[in-house]
Amino acid sequence: MDHPLPDFDNWSAGCINLVNQFLETHLPAPELEPQELHQAMRYAVLGAGKRIRPLLCFASGQITQANIHDLCVASGAIELIHAYSLVHDDMPAMDNDVLRRGQPTCHVKFGEAIALLAGDTLQTLAFEWLSHANNNAEKQLQLIRLLAQASGSLGMGGGQAIDLLHVNQPIDIQLLEKMHKMKTGALIETSILIGAHCGQALQESQYKQLSVIGQNLGLIFQIKDDLLDAQSDSITLGKTAGKDAARNKPTYVSIMGVEEAQRLLERLARDTYLLIEQLGDSARYLMQLSQLFVQRQH
Ligand code: IPE
Ligand code: IPE
Ligand code: MG
Ligand code: MG
Ligand code: MG
Repeated sequence: MDHPLPDFDNWSAGCINLVNQFLETHLPAPELEPQELHQAMRYAVLGAGKRIRPLLCFASGQITQANIHDLCVASGAIELIHAYSLVHDDMPAMDNDVLRRGQPTCHVKFGEAIALLAGDTLQTLAFEWLSHANNNAEKQLQLIRLLAQASGSLGMGGGQAIDLLHVNQPIDIQLLEKMHKMKTGALIETSILIGAHCGQALQESQYKQLSVIGQNLGLIFQIKDDLLDAQSDSITLGKTAGKDAARNKPTYVSIMGVEEAQRLLERLARDTYLLIEQLGDSARYLMQLSQLFVQRQH
């Protein structure tokens, strides 16, 4: 007999619980030498993150009936890369932020040298975990390749470089879109692809469709991040509001203003919902998650 699927809230709470437990038990213990480094790694990962990327991974794993253990390992690895990117993003040489997830940033708490190393070692730990993500060696290699490409110089790292090279500099809309797709979109797209690859094989055209959905969602997620920075407050966000304008950062809000950025976000979201609809009922959690990308308040 088929069991009905849980509603979105129960499903997402269940996934977050699974990934949090996985992270908690698999990150190096805080008493292990070098203690400060392991404590900083745990601090960066175990804070109050929304776990959006793990949720995307689980939602697309639902489409290919992926195994829960594989999804925990893979989404845990993705969250390590995301946490590392935040630690470095907040450091004085980058955005110089003191607040993250409602707490002092990693370098404020542990000092710059340890924060730098915590970011580096979270990154390598992600790939170690992925090498255990599945008992099929070819699949493991594919997951490792996807995550490496998404975080490298043509993905997140490269997007961060474009961002920093355009502080106080003019940027055109094409480069801004490319920057958003790289610095945030690449990891979001890859979370969806990795989740799907954890399960049964799809046709090439279906992976392509998931990629396009992921790229759109990545752009939507960062446009919303830019809007929230301009419109919300630090308590709600758990990070410093108004920082982009104060540092003259290249963002959708700085280029086109709040209203036009909001309209673009809604238009992109409508296009993306249509693409997700074509995937059928097994993509229902991906659809609900996408709606959250537009509605989220932090
Ligand atoms: C923040 O990401 C950085 C961006 C890529 C916009 P999230 O908004 O997912 O941060 P957490 O994980 O919930 O703290
Ligand atoms: C961050 O963009 C993208 C990353 C790859 C970390 P932001 O610099 O806008 O992220 P927040 O606003 O500090 O979270
Ligand atoms: Mg930044
Ligand atoms: Mg930042
Ligand atoms: Mg931001």
